[in-house]
Amino acid sequence: MTAVAESPDLIKLPVSRLALGMYVTAIDQQGKVTVVNAGLLKHKDAITHLVKSGIRFVWVDAEKSLPGSGLKKAGSTASLRGKDKVKFGAGAKTKTKLGLAPNQMRQQKAKNLLFEAKGLIRKVLGEVFEGKAIEVAPFEALADNLIESVMSDAGAMQFASALRSKDAYLLEHSVNVAVLLVTFGRHLGFDATTLKQLAVGGILHDIGKIKVDNQILHKPGKLSEEEFEHMKLHQVYAIDALAEAPDLHQISKDVCLMHHEKLDGRGYPNGLKGDEIPLHGRMSGICDIYDALTATRCYKEAMSPASAFKILLSLTPHHLDQKLVYEFIRCVGVYPVGSLVELSDGRVGIVWETNGREVRQPIVKCFYSLKLKRYTQVAYVDLLKSELEIERGVTPGALEVDPSPFY
Ligand SMILES: [Fe+2]
Repeated sequence: MTAVAESPDLIKLPVSRLALGMYVTAIDQQGKVTVVNAGLLKHKDAITHLVKSGIRFVWVDAEKSLPGSGLKKAGSTASLRGKDKVKFGAGAKTKTKLGLAPNQMRQQKAKNLLFEAKGLIRKVLGEVFEGKAIEVAPFEALADNLIESVMSDAGAMQFASALRSKDAYLLEHSVNVAVLLVTFGRHLGFDATTLKQLAVGGILHDIGKIKVDNQILHKPGKLSEEEFEHMKLHQVYAIDALAEAPDLHQISKDVCLMHHEKLDGRGYPNGLKGDEIPLHGRMSGICDIYDALTATRCYKEAMSPASAFKILLSLTPHHLDQKLVYEFIRCVGVYPVGSLVELSDGRVGIVWETNGREVRQPIVKCFYSLKLKRYTQVAYVDLLKSELEIERGVTPGALEVDPSPFY
């Protein structure tokens, strides 16, 4: 390790991940670090020049980078959306010993898909707001793509879901619930047609929130009784909106209208009880709560999957179906792709690949040391071949640094 790498704010990045506003301090050529004219990246030409010069990695100072560049903890989520569009360049073509390039490409495909999905949802939500009927065809095409992607690589899709932004939450949440429903449905052995109907339902499940008062919708913290009653109206609005969509399959409608129903009959909008809530309606409640708990919002940090599972179990058997919650935990896994873990040597990393492995032996992309309280050189640790093990799952909030540049 060189002196350059020992500052806690310095991060080694592939040139393909560089963005305007980042503060470059050094370039790395075949492991040899050269200090350059340090400065802010203000023009795209500078990045093009680095690529043309054959430079593959640079060192960037997170502290000196601008808030919009994606490296600062504060406000960094805004830049994540831009990063959805980033194409993998030379860095991705470089196969690591673990052969991660195809994985990165699948993840990029999944990210692009989510980006498109968000655009589509934004458009449809806008139309509903203007009082137009919901057109089903674009949702079905989107659902097809979601399923194709989840079918070919559930890990990649979960990974993309882990990249959430604090704002535009409604859009993000809708797509995430759809992805979770398809992943869960696939785990339970549903056929492709049903998965498609689940996905459509998931994407539309909170459509009624577009008519909820913005101040209540975005209120940080607990709602008053009166505000909660208003929030509950989103399911009444949803009934109206879905009545305008005659082509929508009953399963999609149920997913949308039953995600707040509870087995003991204390849910809303219809207070359905026990068997009145079919399997896909019960699944939608589990996916909705899980995603809400594990999301980062402006007023709360994301909860780890393990803590969210505990809460889901505490809601059984009165609200949620216990057997189904256990199945959901088996399906998502304690350390899903995209979640953060601490290894036994104190390093923290992102669960990068789990395909065909034991739960506790994924490939982990390490980038930070909790012991040293600073970034470390990025390393892919294959726990199948390493003596290290997972110590515990960690939440992004516990890190005191922003993990998003490493996704
Ligand atoms: Fe809802």
